[in-house]
Amino acid sequence: MTRTPLIAGNWKMNGTPMLVKDMILGLAQKYDALPEKPFEMLICPPFTLIGLASEFAKNTGIVIGGQNCSALSNGAHTGDISALMLKEARAKYVILGHSERRTDHGETNALIKAKAEQALKDGLKVIICVGETEVQKDAGETLKVVSKQVSESLPSDTKADDVVIAYEPVWAIGTGRTPTGAEVEEVHAFIRKQLAEMIGLDEAGGLRILYGGSVKPSNAKELLHIPNVDGALVGGASLKLDDFWGIAQAYL
Ligand code: PGA
Repeated sequence: MTRTPLIAGNWKMNGTPMLVKDMILGLAQKYDALPEKPFEMLICPPFTLIGLASEFAKNTGIVIGGQNCSALSNGAHTGDISALMLKEARAKYVILGHSERRTDHGETNALIKAKAEQALKDGLKVIICVGETEVQKDAGETLKVVSKQVSESLPSDTKADDVVIAYEPVWAIGTGRTPTGAEVEEVHAFIRKQLAEMIGLDEAGGLRILYGGSVKPSNAKELLHIPNVDGALVGGASLKLDDFWGIAQAYL
């Protein structure tokens, strides 16, 4: 099964209406001019900017997503956002289980799985984040930690078409540090093998596994051409048009 790489921007708690406009129109101008589309481009702004982002992305190749959603469908849950609300704001994807959600909000694998199942039910694609902390890495526990996160946070009915995994070592997020190519290759191959056991060779072969953590134009070519790396989840560098497009250029 072929895997179309995904370049996903996670704006976190950043961004303004002006940035939405400049970024989406700027990206669309470059992306839509490509004769062939060797990758998919996704922007995940904060909730309040999703509707506006969808408006600017209309009739372009740029796709919009959210950064989180509730595991529940609706009701008395002050401050939460449902997957259906994201869908109605024309989001196509939702990022789930980012390490900042796991840390800041105590999100567990079980909760992330429940959110993923709700999001799939409401017609979104999900990007499930996994990755070890620095302490876990130093203790030699990377594969063990990632394996548990993959087996416990993926939705029961995981299919290559609508589930993406992002491997993001927590210590590489926003720090300017990245694992070596060999380390990334090892973890991604390990996840692919585990997926094959969970969902079968065919589905596992088609499911995209992104790398995330300090991806920038200067390291994108190296990171994105590692076997089993099918794109990037980009934080800081997704807030600047030249940097985000510079990363995507690894595929051009
Ligand atoms: P970063 O963030 O690119 O700023 O390291 C990545 C992420 O948190 O998804």
